[in-house]
Amino acid sequence: MAPSLTGDPAVLVLGASTASGREFLSQAAESGLQALAVSRRQPTRSLPGITWLQHDLSEGPAPVMAGVLVSFGPVGLALRQMTASHSIGRVVAISSASTVFKADSPDALERSAMVRIAAEESRLAAQCAARGAGLTLFKTTMIYGGGSDANVARLADLSARLPFVPVAGRGLRQPVHAHDLAELALRVLAMDERSFGTWLLGGGETLDYPALLRRVASAQGRAARIIRLPCAVLKLALALAHASGRLGDVRPVMLERQAVDLVVDDQPARARLGWNPRPFRPDGAALRS
Ligand SMILES: NC(=O)c1ccc[n+]([C@@H]2O[C@H](COP(=O)([O-])OP(=O)(O)OC[C@H]3O[C@@H](n4cnc5c(N)ncnc54)[C@H](OP(=O)(O)O)[C@@H]3O)[C@@H](O)[C@H]2O)c1
Repeated sequence: MAPSLTGDPAVLVLGASTASGREFLSQAAESGLQALAVSRRQPTRSLPGITWLQHDLSEGPAPVMAGVLVSFGPVGLALRQMTASHSIGRVVAISSASTVFKADSPDALERSAMVRIAAEESRLAAQCAARGAGLTLFKTTMIYGGGSDANVARLADLSARLPFVPVAGRGLRQPVHAHDLAELALRVLAMDERSFGTWLLGGGETLDYPALLRRVASAQGRAARIIRLPCAVLKLALALAHASGRLGDVRPVMLERQAVDLVVDDQPARARLGWNPRPFRPDGAALRS
């Protein structure tokens, strides 16, 4: 069992190994913040002021005393940590804007995941309110950056390997860079109760799905090879891939969603938190590494 830590570090970071979590730790270290970062894995880097705790949160909350909780992982983990840690007086947590987009998904599994996430967000808000802890909850659109995300990095990998990328829709996207999200999370820690509440966050640019693919390919120094196909044809191809044991994590509903706009109105966060995200500029060097 991990040792129980008391006193400093005051900031406990969950989901520390996500792209946003890693960005947050870099920026926190530069600001001289003391933080305790949780991961199930061995730490791969060390930063001044950052202490890693290797811990599986499914076995229980991190056994630490912290005044502040910053969570870049699943919101359910933040809820469990908050429920068990009575020293925490301030919470900044990331969750997903998907509860807006996927609440009526034709996929029953997705719908139930959205119900669970929304319930966890409500319970976290109730827990914080009951304890007088300030909560800032960011519900973001797709996050990219760091070269290892499941969105842009995956599309980059796919488009580098396939002779062409099949596309079934022109839905709008607003990718959020992990660095911008981390910077905002750090900034709101220094803000007063005006930053409390739930905030929708989108990226600095809205572009359609084929344009997003073209931008990713161009960051890799290639021209995008896109072929437009009806969704029904793509679903058939996906069914064949599933039958041969491939692309198991791609669900048919994801193909339908290529035609759906996944965008939010983040004006409140821009006006009141100074949210000023960059346009969509994937980092070619990170994608190639
Ligand atoms: N990815 C996106 O595009 C996106 C978009 C909008 C919102 N979000 C939100 O961002 C958050 C993170 O999403 P994600 O997709 O990047 O990653 P995720 O798969 O939801 O979470 C991965 C992170 O959580 C940590 N984690 C998971 N289970 C753990 C456990 N049992 N014990 C300790 N740590 C655990 C992982 O740490 P280790 O593996 O290092 O242990 C890792 O840092 C979620 O709240 C999600 O709703 C994500």
